[in-house]
Amino acid sequence: MTTTVIKGGTVVTADLTYKADVLIEGGKIVDIGPGLKGDKTLDAEGCYVMPGGIDPHTHLSMPFMGTYSADDFEAGTRGGLAGGTTMVVDFALPNPGESLLSGLQKWDNKAGRACCDYSFHMAITWWSEQVFDEMKAITERGINTFKHFMAYKGSLMVNDEEMFASFKRCRELGAIPLVHAENGDIVASMSAKLLAEGNTGPEGHAYSRPSQVEGEATNRAIMIADMAGVPLYVVHTSCEESHEAIRRAKLAGKRVWGEPLIQHLTLDESEYFDKDWDHSARRVMSPPFRNKQHQDSLWAGLASGTLSCVATDHCAFTTEQKRYGVGDFTKIPNGTGGLEERMPMLWTYGVRTGRITMNEFVAVTSTNIAKILNVYPKKGAVLIGADADLVVWDPEKSKTISAKSQQSSIDYNVFEGKEVTGLPRYTLTRGFVAVNDGAIETREGYGEFVARDPMGPVSKALSTWKALTEPRPIPRAGIPASGV
Ligand code: URP
Ligand code: ZN
Ligand code: ZN
Ligand code: ZN
Repeated sequence: MTTTVIKGGTVVTADLTYKADVLIEGGKIVDIGPGLKGDKTLDAEGCYVMPGGIDPHTHLSMPFMGTYSADDFEAGTRGGLAGGTTMVVDFALPNPGESLLSGLQKWDNKAGRACCDYSFHMAITWWSEQVFDEMKAITERGINTFKHFMAYKGSLMVNDEEMFASFKRCRELGAIPLVHAENGDIVASMSAKLLAEGNTGPEGHAYSRPSQVEGEATNRAIMIADMAGVPLYVVHTSCEESHEAIRRAKLAGKRVWGEPLIQHLTLDESEYFDKDWDHSARRVMSPPFRNKQHQDSLWAGLASGTLSCVATDHCAFTTEQKRYGVGDFTKIPNGTGGLEERMPMLWTYGVRTGRITMNEFVAVTSTNIAKILNVYPKKGAVLIGADADLVVWDPEKSKTISAKSQQSSIDYNVFEGKEVTGLPRYTLTRGFVAVNDGAIETREGYGEFVARDPMGPVSKALSTWKALTEPRPIPRAGIPASGV
């Protein structure tokens, strides 16, 4: 078997920074240290050698709001690799009433085109005995995370009773529930009022989803998870109210993680007040972009560790698709891209500004989520035996983000014109060099499904603690426990 050595770089992991070469054979890291030799050499002089990024939140070719998200697994993962991301976790989304297994089959078929490794979260879009039963089969297929939409009333939303039932099932299975935390009833009511009053433009989307709807839903999901005895992962945490609920829960010993998106960290609500309808509609996503105070809260969460992972929620729609919502903002397909931009944007606005360290960058783009998903250290690590999913990061390489040069198939980029410094020189997916000195040489269909076992360390610990502290009868002399 041929070997590849990454030579002359500085290894940066979630907790260490040191000079070393990295030797790769058969898609795995086989040695780390000084003076290594291989059949092929990748020059990492002046670069950082880091675990490839893991994006835990994508929607590739997803049927949504009357259309399909425009980037498929090929384009999406090609963009990811171009930006240093080597694994994506996409949401398998059965229709309400549909079997989870048939939903999963559709995602299996689509993901066959992926250029890098991938995994799935399974969405719970309805509740029944069949769903309860199939959740077990899904965990046996290597999916240990179940997503719940508290928004999108009338389509994907589940109510508290359904969520509580599903969370309890997650606990039994050693799985982790995820929530899209926005109060869907309030959003629906506010949207109807705004439309009736003539607020039909994309700014109405932001008005209909204030930070309170997110804060309320986040807190509710946290309390429901606590009562079900299960950890909780809150996707796309965008505001202080939601962060506050997560922070408070963490300090109280609850096992909760929050996931800000690179869009919410770097783009703000003024985008919705642009005079150009297309400009604003292209940025419509849920939750919407927020003001600077919310952004500061998210950055503080990354620095302090109260927020854990930076994702993209990559769900790209063309301008033509966005125009379905002319005259009614509730019909604008929700979603924005970001797979290619997440790592360079976070490096530029996070590491280069001193808001986070390089090691924190690795933690929030890769290692933390690998641990939460129970795939560490196969993924998210620079260790002997780990998959050679690596990025050789050139901290001085710059570009201006533009739709003209992007991998995504849509006709615009929400980060258009942003200057980024810090880009991959090489991106390796299980040892295969998919970005080669800046050139994109991805292979469609190279990606493999990453199975994830249930009962990761946090699920196991919490389950033990909840079993110890759960309600139990008090034995009393002369009083039988079960009546006479
Ligand atoms: O607006 C968004 N976020 N679109 C994708 C679906 C979701 O809610 O995550
Ligand atoms: Zn969502
Ligand atoms: Zn514009
Ligand atoms: Zn999403």
